[in-house]
Amino acid sequence: MPKSKDFWDKRAGRYDAKPKKGPNFAARLERAAAVFEKTDRVLDVGTATGEITLDLAPHAGEVLGIDHSARMVEAANGRARERGVTNVRFEQMEPDDPRLEPGTFNAITVYSVIHLLKDAPATLARLRDLLIPGGHLITETPCLGDWNLLWRILIRLVVLVGMAPPILSLEADGLEKMIADAGFEIIERKVYNPKSGLECVLARKRSA
Ligand SMILES: C[S@@+](CC[C@H](N)C(=O)[O-])C[C@H]1O[C@@H](n2cnc3c(N)ncnc32)[C@H](O)[C@@H]1O
Repeated sequence: MPKSKDFWDKRAGRYDAKPKKGPNFAARLERAAAVFEKTDRVLDVGTATGEITLDLAPHAGEVLGIDHSARMVEAANGRARERGVTNVRFEQMEPDDPRLEPGTFNAITVYSVIHLLKDAPATLARLRDLLIPGGHLITETPCLGDWNLLWRILIRLVVLVGMAPPILSLEADGLEKMIADAGFEIIERKVYNPKSGLECVLARKRSA
């Protein structure tokens, strides 16, 4: 089984072949824009080729997109240059990178990444530390554990043959508890589009 980083490096070249700007995309941006202030410093974890990160930028002061795949970051930087977006930066990093300073982000977005993490509770606790007091966490996560048996088997097979990276079998209730246990107050949890299968959680950093 390939390591997650190697898997995404290999995928980077054709990641954008599948159009991403469907209804989920627009709704996702709208929800983020409603939470962000125009001066906010935002961290987007698992930025991939930067498509979503770049569209978040007009709603915030500055956005840092991070991804552990160097090739994804390279593509994202190219796209930012092409579009002339100047308030976005992309870096090859994982959330535990010491270059990220605690208490410096107003909001953190994590779209379709939590199910890919090696230690999701530890990463969520780290994201909490990176936020300012009261800062927002916005997540969208496929909760494979809640999908029907056929899908679960199919996904397992796809992972086994190396066509997908290792995936956590999260359940929505468990995910909500994990986020709360990492030091967040849950503001909203909702599946906006049942077809997407994405569990959307909006949470706020608890002060203590
Ligand atoms: C399924 S893609 C999601 C991309 C984008 N957020 C979206 O919703 O379209 C997952 C991305 O997260 C990155 N990723 C996975 N685990 C990561 C980690 N621990 N640190 C940084 N990036 C990670 C992968 O390299 C990949 O680009």
